[in-house]
Amino acid sequence: MTKIDEVERHLFFEGIYLKYGYDFRQYAEASLDRRLAGLLGDYQASSLLDLLKRALREPEEFRKILGSLTINTSEFFRDPTFFKVLRESVFPVLKTYSKVTIWSAGCSTGEEVLSLAIALKEEGLDRRATIHATDINPFVLKSAKTGIFEASCIPTFNKNYAAAGGTGTPSQYYGAEYGLVRFNPDLLENVVFSEHNLATDAAFLEAHLILCRNVFIYFSRELQERALELFARSLVHKGFLALGSKETLRFSSLAPNFQAVSPGENVFSLLSRSEPKP
Ligand SMILES: C[S@@+](CC[C@H](N)C(=O)[O-])C[C@H]1O[C@@H](n2cnc3c(N)ncnc32)[C@H](O)[C@@H]1O
Repeated sequence: MTKIDEVERHLFFEGIYLKYGYDFRQYAEASLDRRLAGLLGDYQASSLLDLLKRALREPEEFRKILGSLTINTSEFFRDPTFFKVLRESVFPVLKTYSKVTIWSAGCSTGEEVLSLAIALKEEGLDRRATIHATDINPFVLKSAKTGIFEASCIPTFNKNYAAAGGTGTPSQYYGAEYGLVRFNPDLLENVVFSEHNLATDAAFLEAHLILCRNVFIYFSRELQERALELFARSLVHKGFLALGSKETLRFSSLAPNFQAVSPGENVFSLLSRSEPKP
């Protein structure tokens, strides 16, 4: 892998931030360097400064570069036991509210949102729940909105759906179309997709449940802390926060504000809200 020069990396991300407002300055370096090395090869750029020049002068190219800088891997009912915890420990509490607001932060191409919509439907919560699905990357949001996926996702969908405690038949949720599958549009009826950057944007809702799974692994500690403050400000009292299976809030100064609901699956409930900084 091409070795990334530290000063050039710094200048590259400062430039991107100044021009476009996307803040990658606090992302974990190892993962960014792999992406940057790939981009240097793709663009046959002699250096990051060369690539920066293109990104600054050609907004369309920047959008492609942005797409490559974010890692968008996802899966239906990813970590299926997490969805079991949702059904067993979180949904019973959500059922006590007449309206439920859920935020899927870093939703990527929509697999998590559809999985959630299916689980909510099977628990009779779909009509009262609104899911706000956000991501920094406009391309993945555009794709998520379609509800269309490669048919190759179906074996994983079927297997994970059963392991996640699905109570119906997996094929009732999609139809096959020319090597693709389209998920039933009603699943996305109460989903609002929008761009939101956890590194720079403010709180915008009051949620009963926030999912931010497999996003913190790419963030530095400082950026994780910022996002956690945002989540603590965005949750109702005793609201739930779900992180990915490899993520933790143990090292955060906000850890005492949260109580583990299911330590194995990293689901927490908020004990006290963080006060906005003056
Ligand atoms: C690996 S995917 C995780 C998708 C899904 N949550 C899951 O667990 O399958 C990480 C997503 O986080 C998004 N992301 C990265 N940085 C972000 C930021 N600063 N604000 C919002 N989303 C971000 C990426 O664009 C990507 O779609």
